[in-house]
Amino acid sequence: MIIAPSLLAANFGRFAAEAARVEKAGADWLHLDIMDGHFVPNISFGPGVVKTIRPFTRLFFDVHLMCSAPEILLEPFAAAGADQMNVHVELGDEVVTSLIWKIKSLGKKAGLAVNPPTDISRALPHLAGISELLIMTVNPGFGGQGFIHETLPKIQKAYDWRLEKGLQYHIGVDGGITDVTAAECARAGADAFISGTTLFEERSLRGGIAKMRKAAEKNARGGNLDLDARPAAAKS
Ligand code: DX5
Ligand code: ZN
Repeated sequence: MIIAPSLLAANFGRFAAEAARVEKAGADWLHLDIMDGHFVPNISFGPGVVKTIRPFTRLFFDVHLMCSAPEILLEPFAAAGADQMNVHVELGDEVVTSLIWKIKSLGKKAGLAVNPPTDISRALPHLAGISELLIMTVNPGFGGQGFIHETLPKIQKAYDWRLEKGLQYHIGVDGGITDVTAAECARAGADAFISGTTLFEERSLRGGIAKMRKAAEKNARGGNLDLDARPAAAKS
């Protein structure tokens, strides 16, 4: 199970220290929400910020590009230290095919994000090429929103497809993830849990991550991947 705190909920004035704190607290990935003020009605931060925090942690950087023109950002984020870049399926089939190809040609893992109103079958043509299917459980743009329960059947579908097709992608859930909704998502088949507000509001981030991991593991649908993206040094 992957627990991925979202830096969007951290103190923007202390990003480097917050990234280091997330690693120390036992997280698997750091989720980085990139908003361009066009694809979503909010602006977060760019590759310069990611490059600045990169030396402060060995965590796997899971970059979520909520951007209308991600093609101009792939190289800058790769150079800044992204390990995985997620693009949105809503950008259209042809665009997504070339984005995934480009991400992989940069030596990075590719992920595909699907918004709540978007049919999950739009991801089907791309499943063989991706390392993460990121199922949005809120409408992207802001942290702190409520989990949309209608997205649960998509997680089940993603899980069934992965089994049927013998594929390897992580099934990520992003938005409104608490211990309760993490358990629901785990039962449906999710194995990567992106959480901002819930984790950063905990008095102990370490305790919050451990609690969420326990909730996810206890409710795991079974047959989940045993993929661990942490670098070898961080596992011991
Ligand atoms: C939503 C972002 C999420 C967000 C999750 O636009 O993609 O990653 O930071 O935050 P919470 O956990 O606060 O919903
Ligand atoms: Zn996100």
